[in-house]
Amino acid sequence: MPSYLITGVSRGLGFEFLRQLSANADNIIIGIVRDKATTDKKIADELSSPSNVTILQADVGNYEALKATVSTVAEVTGGSLDYLIANAAYVPDWDSYDPIGVLAQKPQELEEEILKLTKINVVSVIHLISLYMPLILKGTAKKVIGITSGHADAEAVRQFDLGVSAGYAISKASLNMVMAKFSAQYREQGVLFLALSPGVVEVGHHKDANQQQQAALWDLAKKFMAFAPDFRGPSTPDVACKAVVNVWESCSIEKGNGGAFLSHHGDKNWL
Ligand SMILES: NC(=O)c1ccc[n+]([C@@H]2O[C@H](COP(=O)([O-])OP(=O)(O)OC[C@H]3O[C@@H](n4cnc5c(N)ncnc54)[C@H](OP(=O)(O)O)[C@@H]3O)[C@@H](O)[C@H]2O)c1
Repeated sequence: MPSYLITGVSRGLGFEFLRQLSANADNIIIGIVRDKATTDKKIADELSSPSNVTILQADVGNYEALKATVSTVAEVTGGSLDYLIANAAYVPDWDSYDPIGVLAQKPQELEEEILKLTKINVVSVIHLISLYMPLILKGTAKKVIGITSGHADAEAVRQFDLGVSAGYAISKASLNMVMAKFSAQYREQGVLFLALSPGVVEVGHHKDANQQQQAALWDLAKKFMAFAPDFRGPSTPDVACKAVVNVWESCSIEKGNGGAFLSHHGDKNWL
């Protein structure tokens, strides 16, 4: 029975990964969330509490809390783990609408936000992977996925002047390096590390944007259309998660994918 540990399954893409993967009764799914009671209720209401799903509580920014989940996961799976999906992330509104120079005009806020992004989106993923490597090495699939973003592609930022989401992009570029470095250490032991972007997916992030912020989003959309003329707006979690699962299933160390930063298409087309 393939086992999956996914962080951040309370909502958005994480919940959708859980929904799709738990539909196969052969899979064992363990989700990590900050609020277990609310997530258990959502899973009961929307998915009728599948018997192959276990929810554990931990803030991924709390090392001791993360460490405490390992023994429970080992009990549920029988001592191994096939897939580790580092999906949870701090996705701030703070940097969504302004370029880096404007953000830097509030130096204390910039410092606090970048440090929080680094702690949750980078350092906590290193801790997560490190804590779970003993179980992954005993697993069969041996796949570790960091959910990243096309915003982290410096070439795309450079070519299309993608000025917004600077702090988030910096944290995801660091995450990509985390995945590459773990690959460098563990590729020979058969562990595939990937940084996978789901594309642009509607999960309600900008639902409260004011008129000025909506103008910034439209400006970004126009740049996306320059990058990918077929781009017609965000996809759905359903479509995005299916695509990401297809990519991690088709990738392998043998194909040369170890440590790669890829889109939901399995290439560098982020949209
Ligand atoms: N949506 C997109 O267009 C898009 C595009 C590119 C990449 N991504 C990536 O996809 C992943 C999922 O994002 P999403 O769009 O589904 O965003 P989301 O709806 O904001 O979900 C973020 C998830 O992360 C969890 N989380 C945040 N901080 C946490 C912490 N300290 N400890 C534990 N869990 C924490 C949240 O839990 P709470 O409910 O407790 O807050 C939530 O479950 C992220 O890595 C994101 O960067 C998304």
